[in-house]
This record gives sequence, structure tokens and C-alpha cells, in this order.
Amino acid sequence: MRPPPNPGQPPRSSPSAWQRFQHRLRHGGLPWLTSAVFNRLVPARAAIRHHVLQVATGAVGLEVGGPSPVFSRGALLPVYEHAEAIDNVNFTSNTAWEKDLVNEGPYVFSDTKPPGRQYLREATVLGGLPTGRYDLLISSHCLEHVANPLAALAEWRRVVRPGGHLLLLLPDPQRTFDHRRPATTLDHLRADRDRQTGEDDLTHLDEILRLHDLGRDPHAGSREAFVARARLNPENRCLHHHVFDLELMRAALSETGWQPLALERTRPLHLIALARNGA
Ligand SMILES: C[S@@+](CC[C@H](N)C(=O)[O-])C[C@H]1O[C@@H](n2cnc3c(N)ncnc32)[C@H](O)[C@@H]1O
Repeated sequence: MRPPPNPGQPPRSSPSAWQRFQHRLRHGGLPWLTSAVFNRLVPARAAIRHHVLQVATGAVGLEVGGPSPVFSRGALLPVYEHAEAIDNVNFTSNTAWEKDLVNEGPYVFSDTKPPGRQYLREATVLGGLPTGRYDLLISSHCLEHVANPLAALAEWRRVVRPGGHLLLLLPDPQRTFDHRRPATTLDHLRADRDRQTGEDDLTHLDEILRLHDLGRDPHAGSREAFVARARLNPENRCLHHHVFDLELMRAALSETGWQPLALERTRPLHLIALARNGA
């Protein structure tokens, strides 16, 4: 299984590359074309990369919501080739991104490493995964799809050993279809934690339908198709429940006992945080 080509974008029943190009050009015009060419010609760099590869080398890792192109060989943060082993957690066997995943089946994340183990679990309840089992937890463009992110971060910390690390990537709202939505507040995340908001939560739907920029989301199709897909979020996980900026990332990590070590924004659309389990 190869990682999907675009973070944040469902690969199944997707428009062709040419259709996506036309859509983006129609909506983004010359500014979009200029930045797309720049991103293609000038590879992105992450200041955090050296530190990430240090903690990834020889690590036994758990991914949530993988596989992720950004962790592949030659990519921005090539964790897969440095880690000793990687298991994965995904929501269910069939989502907008994955098909026929098998609980406790193989998790293929690299051509050169033996597969890890696939666990079908909701990100906030990793039952059966032992406390302190992993050196490193990695997750790319997944936590924004989780209705109760503080519960997830606390649970992710449980399965990481004291002194282990979390590498968390989220979409930069300024560079995605979320750019009109306000950043979520920490108080809002606390309320979701306190009332144990579940994955079937659709309280953000009105805001999303009002502010989602379909011009930056060629995968969504027509407005009618987008609305229909959004209402099925409990099954397909397509909605971004929450909108993170670096400030909220740092606050959410601290709130759940992670020590943020470094945070940065990186092209084309990542917010990246590396944190340590100080417990
Ligand atoms: C936008 S995709 C990101 C895929 C990949 N990590 C990448 O960077 O391209 C979101 C992933 O998170 C998973 N996901 C969403 N909500 C989840 C939840 N509550 N628990 C576990 N996985 C979830 C989805 O099934 C999907 O695999």
C-alpha cells in the first residue's frame, strides 16, 4: 500500500490531477500558480528535521492516521526509514482515505521495512495498546479530524514511554480551505474534553458550511456533494472539527502534559510540533 499523494485529501473517487489543476487555477489565479510553481521548484525544509530524525532513529513508533507521504523516504520528515518499527491506528476499516483495513493486520509504511501492526481504534481510545509501549508517536493531518483532541493527546501520551516523543503535523489553515475559519480556542477544546464530545459530533457543521473555501478544495466537488459528504462525517472523517494555529497547538500539548520542544510552519501547508513526554 502506497501512502496517498496529498495530505488532507481523500484519494478515493478523486478528480484527476488535470481537473485539480484547472479547479485551482480557476479559483486561485496567478497567485496560486506562482506559489504552486515555487513549491515545486524549491523543496520545503523544516528547521526541526535534524531533531526529528534524532528521536526517530531506532525508535519503536506508533502512527495515528497513517500512512503519510510526509514521513516517507526523501520527504520533508523521513521518519519511516529511520525508525525501527511503526504500528498504526486508524478509525475503521473503510474511510474516505483507506479501504479494507484489518485490525491487527499488517501496516505497510515502507518498501524496505517489515510491516508494523494495524490497529482499528478511535484516536482517543487506544484500548489494548500497552501503556508506555512506544518511543515515538507520529501523526500527520489527523488530529484536526478528531472531535475531542485533548482526549486524544492525553491517550497518545499514555502509550508513549516517559521521555518519549510526539511528532504532530496539522494543516496550516492559512494555506488550506480553512483560511476563513477562526482558530479554535483552548477553552473550546477543554469543553469538548469535559463533555466527552464523541466522533459523531456535528456542532461545527454550520460554521464549516458557511466558511469552507470550496475554491481551495477540488476534491470536494459541487457544493451539494460537499454538503452531503460533510453530513456523513461520522463515517468518512472528512471534516476538520477544529482549526489549529501554532498557539493552539502549543497550548493543547501543554494542557495534556506534553512538553513542546519546537513548533514551526512549513510549506506547503504544515504546522509541525515536536513534544516530549515529560511524565
Ligand atoms: C487527512 S487523512 C491524513 C492521512 C495521512 N496521515 C496524510 O498525512 O496524508 C486523516 C487520517 O486520519 C484518520 N482519522 C480521522 N479521524 C480519526 C479518528 N478519530 N481516529 C483515528 N483515525 C482517524 C483518517 O481515517 C485518515 O487516515
